[in-house]
Amino acid sequence: DPVRYISNHSSGKMGYALAAAARDAGAEVVLISGPVAIPAPSGVEVRNVTTAADMLQASSEAVDAGCDLFIASAAVADYRPQSCEADKIKKTSEQMALPLVRNPDTLATIAARADAPFTVGFAAETTDVARYAIDKMQRKKLRMIVANDVSVPGLGFNSDNNAVTVFWPDGQASIGPDSKQRIADRLMVLIGDHLDQAAG
Ligand code: PMT
Repeated sequence: DPVRYISNHSSGKMGYALAAAARDAGAEVVLISGPVAIPAPSGVEVRNVTTAADMLQASSEAVDAGCDLFIASAAVADYRPQSCEADKIKKTSEQMALPLVRNPDTLATIAARADAPFTVGFAAETTDVARYAIDKMQRKKLRMIVANDVSVPGLGFNSDNNAVTVFWPDGQASIGPDSKQRIADRLMVLIGDHLDQAAG
């Protein structure tokens, strides 16, 4: 309704650090961002979105325009409320049920394109991190996936630090715990090596 929404703990820090790392590596960067409270890195083109559908549209347009590498670190909601009320919902019964419907999956949609760029996903997990991340990489047809255990206090959502394990079809590498910026810088080197290999 006009005064309430469903969200999560994502601050955008990991994604913004990746955008800065890609810029520093010499890339032309388009940063597609949901609402956050941190400044965007300088020298990158920012497209602001608020819904999962907007994120898919902005991402599709960026890939249409030409893109070698697509990294998805946003914590996009898997479901959204079926309807949005024009006026504030009033308190009535002791319980209420809010029907949710599936959101489009930007990452899977981009990776499924015939002209897909080298596509890297993230996996935010709380248990069986490696198993779920590898399953996501295979299901969504990704070249690499960056897994983080978001149940560890002080890491992951909203913190300045993280620890990740990157998986690709025949290997893996762990980075951190470290600052999100240093992790992003090291991720960019690793992803760049794989991108170069894929380009032959
Ligand atoms: O923003 P910070 O506070 O810095 O926190 C960083 C982070 C914890 C959000 C980040 O490191 C991270 O893990 N990002 C991915 C969060 C997530 O939504 O993971 P997932 O396992 O639910 O989704 C898997 C992948 O599908 C992700 O690449 C996600 O961007 C993508 N996805 C998910 C749902 C959806 N509707 N569309 C998508 O594209």
